[in-house]
Amino acid sequence: MSIKNLSIILAMAAMLTTLAACALEETGDPQAEPEPAESTAPAEAEKPEPEPETDPVQVPEAGLQKLDQGEDVKMLQRALNEIGYSIPENGMYDEITTWAVTDFQLQQENLAALGVFNEETRTAMESVFSAGEAVEAGAGLPQDVPASGEGDDTRMLMNPYDQLALVNKQQALPANYTPQDMVVPDIAFPFTEDLPKKQMRATAAAALEELFAAAEEAGLDLFAQSGYRSYDRQDYLFASYSEQHGEKAANKFSARPGESEHQTGLTMDVTSPEVNFQLTTDFAKTDEGKWLTDHAADFGFIIRYPKGSEDITGYQYEPWHLRYVGEKAAQAIAEEGITLEEYLGEVE
Ligand code: DAL
Ligand code: ZN
Ligand code: ZN
Repeated sequence: MSIKNLSIILAMAAMLTTLAACALEETGDPQAEPEPAESTAPAEAEKPEPEPETDPVQVPEAGLQKLDQGEDVKMLQRALNEIGYSIPENGMYDEITTWAVTDFQLQQENLAALGVFNEETRTAMESVFSAGEAVEAGAGLPQDVPASGEGDDTRMLMNPYDQLALVNKQQALPANYTPQDMVVPDIAFPFTEDLPKKQMRATAAAALEELFAAAEEAGLDLFAQSGYRSYDRQDYLFASYSEQHGEKAANKFSARPGESEHQTGLTMDVTSPEVNFQLTTDFAKTDEGKWLTDHAADFGFIIRYPKGSEDITGYQYEPWHLRYVGEKAAQAIAEEGITLEEYLGEVE
């Protein structure tokens, strides 16, 4: 157990002791409280009015996410169960743990619902504990998987908010999913109209702003071409590409509605003046394209459809399509030269 976790437990124990003694005075910095040594425990047990079993709930340090494993994850699962969930305490940050964290985030004000146990989420969880509140599991994100459409073998994603949501030809987003936290990133677009495709979810937008600033610093000329697309917009686009090229050919470069990452609000297609702001594989040969290959992961983005992985992703090489997955996953994916499918263990 880390020093930080231990000090939280001690701080919470100190707080409970204070409450039990009816000394409701604000104690200030809990760190300043004398830390009870383990040897004082028997003495406390001899008090005439023994405290109720406190067993303080331990909230782990922040910085946990899907695929993480270990004692901290187990601690998080136990904490989630204490506030109203009933998930397995298996020490694996699995789909159901991601769901519980996302559901909790959706029920709090101003928390990015990405399924990542970050500092803000930890703080919110601690206030739920100290207020003795509980949450209604599933009130933010119902756990039932929406029925999939028209008998094809595409599964429906239960958690479209997940920063690591895998959206592809096997897993689709519900038609009615629209991210609620979208903003227009403060970056260059080659057009001036205020179109929905300028938008991204706030966390991804902030990361993309940093990426663009770093690119500019490096003397590069990046432009954003296309971010968020609604289900209906994708439906329209896929239908018109299908009409032009046939459905099969169209589906190598354009996703069916529900199967596009652009609907997550975590994606942006980028380009540069050198390729006339087109979305073309020639972009990979530009300084901007090369820089992205080397640096996108530093900002939490991956090039989602890499060259040579068409059989895994189902799409042709798209050096322009950036997907936000957070820095940890992006670094691992870039270092290993793999796809999001492989990272998530979704390839046989
Ligand atoms: N071009 C990607 C596959 C999309 O349409 O979402
Ligand atoms: Zn595309
Ligand atoms: Zn794209």
